Amino acid sequence: MTLRLGVNIDHVATVRNARGGLLPDPVRAAKLAIVAGADGITAHLREDRRHIRDEDIARLKAEIDKPLNFEMAATSEMVGIALKTKPHACCLVPEKRSERTTEGGLDAAGQQTALKSTVHALKHAGIRVSLFIAAQPAQIEAAAALGADIVEIHTGAWCDALAEGRTAQASAEWKQIVAGAALASGLGLEVHAGHGLDYASAEEIAALPQIVELNIGHFLIGESIFEGLPETVTFMRAAMARGRATIK
Ligand code: PXP
Repeated sequence: MTLRLGVNIDHVATVRNARGGLLPDPVRAAKLAIVAGADGITAHLREDRRHIRDEDIARLKAEIDKPLNFEMAATSEMVGIALKTKPHACCLVPEKRSERTTEGGLDAAGQQTALKSTVHALKHAGIRVSLFIAAQPAQIEAAAALGADIVEIHTGAWCDALAEGRTAQASAEWKQIVAGAALASGLGLEVHAGHGLDYASAEEIAALPQIVELNIGHFLIGESIFEGLPETVTFMRAAMARGRATIK
């Protein structure tokens, strides 16, 4: 049972954009991460282009030899870019200009009609479609009804509760993730997870057999300032392998 690691390189672009110019280059980070053991690269082209830019997406598609997971809002502009780029997968995320990061999951249940045409257009072009949602039954069922291939479970609330020592909430969030992964897998969806993961939480969630991919960015890029990107990816893979090894 393999567990893939998708490395999100958005925050290499954040550092580049803080100064202007071309450095550090997120595509170089993607290549290094792949050499160190990443199974794929994730990048989020936000409407305001605050980190990844259009040319980064084009270069990632052209220059990396592992799957590109293109995170995007379900807008006609982003669908157009996705259809031109043809990434391996598109992960549809909610997007608000005012947020610092993707704070909540997509409301697949409440936006079924609006999402239908986006999911259809991407799938029709041979792109795998993932919906970034909270592990709630209504959202998971809506993702299945929409014909998504994948759900990516938003682990942010669980990770925040763990980091802040809110143990009762962490345990409630964890139960929802466990049940959500089982429900999604039972409905035939491929199950991914991401947001806020670090070594400890990645090790824990790696023990859920239904989850086949983790997408991790902020922690890896931050930690690589101290340890180096290849080392950080290697440590993360080891944490994931330890968690996976507990599955009987
Ligand atoms: N998955 C999705 C869909 C995301 O939007 C993000 C954040 O961009 C991540 C995973 C990675 O989250 P983090 O940067 O906190 O590891």
